[in-house]
Amino acid sequence: MAGEAVSVEQQVREEELIERVVASFEATTDPRLKQIMQAAVRHLHAFLREVRLTEAEWNVGLDFLTAVGHITDDRRQEFILLSDTLGASMQTIAINNEASADATEATVFGPFFVEDSPQVALGGDIAGGASGQPCWVEGSVHDTDGRPVGGARIEVWEADEDGLYDVQYDDNRTAGRAHLFSAEDGTFRFWSVTPTPYPIPHDGPVGRMLAATGRSPMRASHLHFMVSADGRRTLVTHIFVRGDEFLSSDSVFGVKDSLVKEYVEQPAGTSTPDGRDVGNQTWSRVRFDIVLAPDDV
Ligand code: BEZ
Ligand code: FE
Repeated sequence: MAGEAVSVEQQVREEELIERVVASFEATTDPRLKQIMQAAVRHLHAFLREVRLTEAEWNVGLDFLTAVGHITDDRRQEFILLSDTLGASMQTIAINNEASADATEATVFGPFFVEDSPQVALGGDIAGGASGQPCWVEGSVHDTDGRPVGGARIEVWEADEDGLYDVQYDDNRTAGRAHLFSAEDGTFRFWSVTPTPYPIPHDGPVGRMLAATGRSPMRASHLHFMVSADGRRTLVTHIFVRGDEFLSSDSVFGVKDSLVKEYVEQPAGTSTPDGRDVGNQTWSRVRFDIVLAPDDV
């Protein structure tokens, strides 16, 4: 039982079992698969032994994973949510996006990206009818040698002011997403809506796990980017809103200080950078300068 000393004889039994299971993978011909399976077994058994897991708890765990599988379909990927909320997605991203000079940091992809988004021209509006305060986004794309990257494909997507992505509505709308290309001098600009916080889907087993452990499902307000260019490592990231109340408790651990940006609120009536008439309402503006790493690091 947890907390009780385990006899030497008991320890020997448990360790012998681990060695037998590890050895069962010895003949694996793919060396990487062998390494992964043997390490997974050692870490799984270490966890079971550390917490002295009861059989009842093991069954709760199996029921939980079964529920994660049952709710998963083409539109709902509960395993990704589980990986995200356990920090496993962010850890894998950190391992695979090694720091490279001043390259912009990556963060979670999330489940709401859609291929074939509409293209907008530089200065166009990606909101496409999504509700929210208008927000002017401008910035540049450079490489780690400081050279501008023209023609970079910039995919952007975000939730509306009610915290919902277009794909979460039943009417097949396309809104709050688009792609554009950086100008020859690397600059880009577009209209969007000011991001607001929203909960990850929490009506399933992952939501129950968060509730049982006193964790919030909220994500800090953000705008997603995926930036790709020849010879550069594709960057999947977001920008966050300085001052947002969920920056320190983001449910998927996606926030990095370097990605928190100043969204500057503009009083109603302030003229816009491109002369657009946004009516008698406030709007905001933000700057995001992107640095792409070479694709061989
Ligand atoms: C998102 O930002 O869209 C997201 C990321 C991880 C889990 C759920 C949503
Ligand atoms: Fe998101």
